[in-house]
Amino acid sequence: MIETKEGYILLVTDRLDRGEAVAEALGIAMDVRVTGPDFYNQDHGDLSGDVCKGVVTDIAFNREASVKSLRQILRNKAMREAPLMSMLRKVDGSEGENNFMRAKAVGAKICLSAATPPRKLAAAVVNTTHPDQSIVDRIVNRGLAKSGLAVGAILKVVDAGGAIDLPTVDAGVDPVINAIRHGGLARWLDSVWVHDDTTYQHSLQVAGLAAAVAMNLHFPKADQQRFIRAALMHDLGKGRIPLKILNKPGKLDDGEWAVMRTHAKIGHDILVRGGVTDELTLNTALHHHEMLDGTGYPDRLRGDGIADPVRLMTICDIYAALIEKRPYKDAKSPEDAFGILYSMGDKLERSMVNALARAVLKPEERGAA
Ligand SMILES: [Fe+2]
Ligand SMILES: [Fe+2]
Repeated sequence: MIETKEGYILLVTDRLDRGEAVAEALGIAMDVRVTGPDFYNQDHGDLSGDVCKGVVTDIAFNREASVKSLRQILRNKAMREAPLMSMLRKVDGSEGENNFMRAKAVGAKICLSAATPPRKLAAAVVNTTHPDQSIVDRIVNRGLAKSGLAVGAILKVVDAGGAIDLPTVDAGVDPVINAIRHGGLARWLDSVWVHDDTTYQHSLQVAGLAAAVAMNLHFPKADQQRFIRAALMHDLGKGRIPLKILNKPGKLDDGEWAVMRTHAKIGHDILVRGGVTDELTLNTALHHHEMLDGTGYPDRLRGDGIADPVRLMTICDIYAALIEKRPYKDAKSPEDAFGILYSMGDKLERSMVNALARAVLKPEERGAA
């Protein structure tokens, strides 16, 4: 299991207009908390509860009150080990040199021009806080950690009951989008094995495929997010299937299949009891094994009875299962996996198989699709 305690960056800014863009750029690589320089006059909650990975400042170093506040912030136990990175504003003459010296005097490890574009700033910050990772590594690792926490929050209610921690689930969605956008789908699909549990691996595979196809089809952002959230939660009912069936090396017998097929309804019911009201999430959990020709389960729905996004998720789900490696089965190559999807004929929406192929395969590998 990978490290899921991510820590955060504290951004101290007296320029809230710029702060938002800086926080957004840093936010794809790390959690960011933002505070003004008048720290001790504000309530920022308990900053010592999590690991502070670094402090970034965007304050006027020639303003004595700001520097005094910054020193106060840095005295906080949680900040003592965190490297300080300071953005310096362009000022005339020797004042620029003075500000550099003031930042160094407070302990700045690196100083950057405040005119640095936010993306470059984020790369410089990652270079300081995670010297062993590039910014793309960091974005992908963050995606794996956050979506892993989301799946953990979902599976927790399978055993413990109660309400699903939806904020944690939601916090796992955008990091998947960012990881696919910046690191690419192939890398994501190759990286989910850092989680050692098959349901984690599969949920993250389906979420990554869902993100790639939704982006490729230019879904509006909110629809991308809903689709990925539904993907993360689609198979939670498998948490109730005995492991000897779930991980059986070889074919399931009829009785075992009957048990396996219960996971869709079980998952749906756990979501309802856990407080999920989103129609797509509920529909996906219940109907992601329906087939257009009526041969699926649990309700043997046909054609129009299956909502479009659920049909698309079904295709992502089958593709994920085909390319997954298991101790008892080899992973199919993308070409072989699409061969199988196309051979399923009227069971699947062909245009959607094409859409997934466009998202997954490079053009030269797509053949006639
Ligand atoms: Fe399933
Ligand atoms: Fe699945």
